[in-house]
Amino acid sequence: MKILMVCLGNICRSPLAEGILQHKVQQEGLSWTIDSAGTNGYHVGEEPHHLSQKVALLHGIDISHQRARRFTAADFIQFDKIYAMAEDVLAAMQRIARKDFDAAKVELLMNELYPGKNMDVPDPWYGTEPGYHEVYTMIDKASDKIIEKYRVSNI
Ligand code: 4NP
Repeated sequence: MKILMVCLGNICRSPLAEGILQHKVQQEGLSWTIDSAGTNGYHVGEEPHHLSQKVALLHGIDISHQRARRFTAADFIQFDKIYAMAEDVLAAMQRIARKDFDAAKVELLMNELYPGKNMDVPDPWYGTEPGYHEVYTMIDKASDKIIEKYRVSNI
């Protein structure tokens, strides 16, 4: 499995999602590829937000090596499954990928936990530390579901 996590800036939510899922994949001994990207280019090349790094580290996950990159249409060729953190992210992915947008590969992350509810992982960018803890918990639970669902696809 090759899984991509996508948010707007690739500095708050999707770096956490990449780190959390990567951590679980390692714990399970799965040879999956996990990456993340953002639909806007404002933070390309930057490391994750310091509060995303702090919250991840509190759970024993070091995400300091990650660097923000922009989501591209070619990601639809590279990845088997692409998770959008929110509906505005999904809309931006459609604008970027245009004819290459493959709806069969895309899902809102929280639909793994609450199917069909179309819930967003809230953007913590303008908020304070508790928002990052809330985001961590949501992504952690959804990541458990992803492992459970695709564990048989150990490719
Ligand atoms: P993220 O949060 O999408 O979770 O990385 C954001 C970070 C930066 C911006 C927006 C959202 N920004 O507009 O700069």
